[in-house]
Amino acid sequence: MEDIIVTHDLTRSFGKFVAVSKLNLNIRCGEIYGFLGPNGAGKSTAIRMLCGILQPTSGTAQVLGYDLLNETEKIKRKIGYMSQKFSLYDDLSVEENLEFYAGVYEVPLKESKSRVAEMIEMANLTGREKEVVANLSGGWKQRLALGCAIISRPSLVFLDEPTSGVSPTSRRMFFNIIQGLANNGVTVMVTTHFMDEAERCNRIAFISGGRLMATDTPDNLKKNIIRGYLVELAVPDALEQVGRIEALPYVSECNIHGPLLHVLLEHESNAADLRTVTGVEPKMITPSLEDVFVTLAKS
Ligand SMILES: Nc1ncnc2c1ncn2[C@@H]1O[C@H](COP(=O)(O)OP(=O)(O)OP(=O)(O)O)[C@@H](O)[C@H]1O
Ligand SMILES: [Mg+2]
Repeated sequence: MEDIIVTHDLTRSFGKFVAVSKLNLNIRCGEIYGFLGPNGAGKSTAIRMLCGILQPTSGTAQVLGYDLLNETEKIKRKIGYMSQKFSLYDDLSVEENLEFYAGVYEVPLKESKSRVAEMIEMANLTGREKEVVANLSGGWKQRLALGCAIISRPSLVFLDEPTSGVSPTSRRMFFNIIQGLANNGVTVMVTTHFMDEAERCNRIAFISGGRLMATDTPDNLKKNIIRGYLVELAVPDALEQVGRIEALPYVSECNIHGPLLHVLLEHESNAADLRTVTGVEPKMITPSLEDVFVTLAKS
């Protein structure tokens, strides 16, 4: 598969603070590429650089075959971008917002009408065309913002936390739309804090402190990052116990997961030792992406 984005040591500093440090990424044509990482990790900064909105401090990148430093305008014209604080016009209707963005992205006038209709269908906004945006709920607004971002039919789309603050049903619907785009050959780079969405990405990059910690498929990350024997432990006072258990010599890691503890043991045989110490039967579990996330965020 061809690479649509390649970055070489892409770096951005704000004064002395390095927000993105020597990022090396390859994103393939047609994949859904997830960007994960704690708040402040540098995800939005990286995306803003790749969109040509923010100048890198150092490093280079090719986006859609264009040079990020010298062909910014070409890149900006060819991509779709939905920012974390997406901008819709509250006093305009659904249709009017789409018409406005069709103008911004220079969709030919004779195509504008059919393109607006296409976006309304794609975003499941049928029946709300004349509704003023201020009256729409969060999920509808987000789908409209996506429609506005891709009305020019870009082959590369950047979505920065497109599903924050909406219900699970809306999030699911939104991700189905993303998957539909990818099935039609669109490359989607999406940031999310939701593990169910991360699971639906072809590959994930995990960023922490501005650095790329790991990038791979969800399955490979689970296999390669969680090394050892993972168990779930239903201790009654998880919050008080976590430090004590993590200090045990055969425990690589101990993290809170809801009311339970996930304990990474060095060997399967350590499960018996853990039972003796805690009086609770450890239950073997397969690692989830959340385990990967917590482990990488700690390292
Ligand atoms: N214009 C700016 N000036 C100074 N610091 C900035 C600027 N933009 C971002 N930063 C800092 O860079 C770091 C990375 O920010 P960024 O918004 O990229 O994180 P993020 O991974 O998108 O986080 P979140 O998950 O909260 O959206 C943060 O510490 C932020 O405060
Ligand atoms: Mg962000």
